[in-house]
Amino acid sequence: MPTPLIVRKRAEMRNLILTNRALGRRIGFVPTMGSLHRGHTSLVDQATADCDDVVTSIFVNPSQFGPNEDYEEYPRDLHADVHLLSQHGVRWIFAPDVQEMFPPGDSTRIEVSGPAKPYEGILRPGHFSGVATIVLRLLQSTPAHKIYFGAKDWQQILVIRQMVQDLGVDIEVVTCPTVRDKDGLAMSSRNTYLSKDDREQAITIYSSLQQAEKHWCNGMAINKIENDLKKRLSTKGIQIEYADIVDAKSLNKISKANPSTPTIILIACRVGSTRLIDNLLLPSQTLSSC
Ligand code: PAF
Repeated sequence: MPTPLIVRKRAEMRNLILTNRALGRRIGFVPTMGSLHRGHTSLVDQATADCDDVVTSIFVNPSQFGPNEDYEEYPRDLHADVHLLSQHGVRWIFAPDVQEMFPPGDSTRIEVSGPAKPYEGILRPGHFSGVATIVLRLLQSTPAHKIYFGAKDWQQILVIRQMVQDLGVDIEVVTCPTVRDKDGLAMSSRNTYLSKDDREQAITIYSSLQQAEKHWCNGMAINKIENDLKKRLSTKGIQIEYADIVDAKSLNKISKANPSTPTIILIACRVGSTRLIDNLLLPSQTLSSC
């Protein structure tokens, strides 16, 4: 497969996309912060299947990290990322530097509310404003037909969908399934921070989610499922930030299963010093597979 073209400048990127759109090409966009893994390549593969050309951005966005978060340590390896993307048919890699995306004197941010408010919105103030701001800025340079996100960052997808709707952004948002390692741990660039012991603990996150799903299908009361889930996680020494069963669209807590309410379990926790999130969309209890 041809090596992707690395583009550093916003105007150049935009011209390439617009020129190819004018030729009738359908463009898919996969925004990333690099340090790519199978979760990212699954998004690229979906984009390649749906579209004629795929553009991937690699940009560690300072505006979505809090002051005590891991912006400096966040893993970066452009060389390895380019190599991986070249094996998945990406045509362009948009890899601007911080000055290009946030020029000196920059002073505009997207303010987000609604789905951005609970959970990550409380624990990581400013995070979703930073995400929405960069996604909109990236989209100015990569005006694609479709944009792809992984379901692991469930709340992020709700925030982006809300922004797209509110601002009338002309893009289709596609959600792709979470990709897991063989041991069940959801793929994340932050998994590289985990020691061997941390990793042993971290695999409890998915096994606990699966156990909760079983309880759900057996009709156990929601507060009991949550209590059991929290017990399983804390018994392994995992520090829970939240582990809740909520309406998958509004993120409101629910107390009783309702077949017309898509329902999800959201988890954020710390394993050692690493913060991990995961979730599981619960099947309808009316399904025979439940
Ligand atoms: O999900 C991510 O990797 C980031 O939040 C995103 C969407 C690339 C914005 O920086």
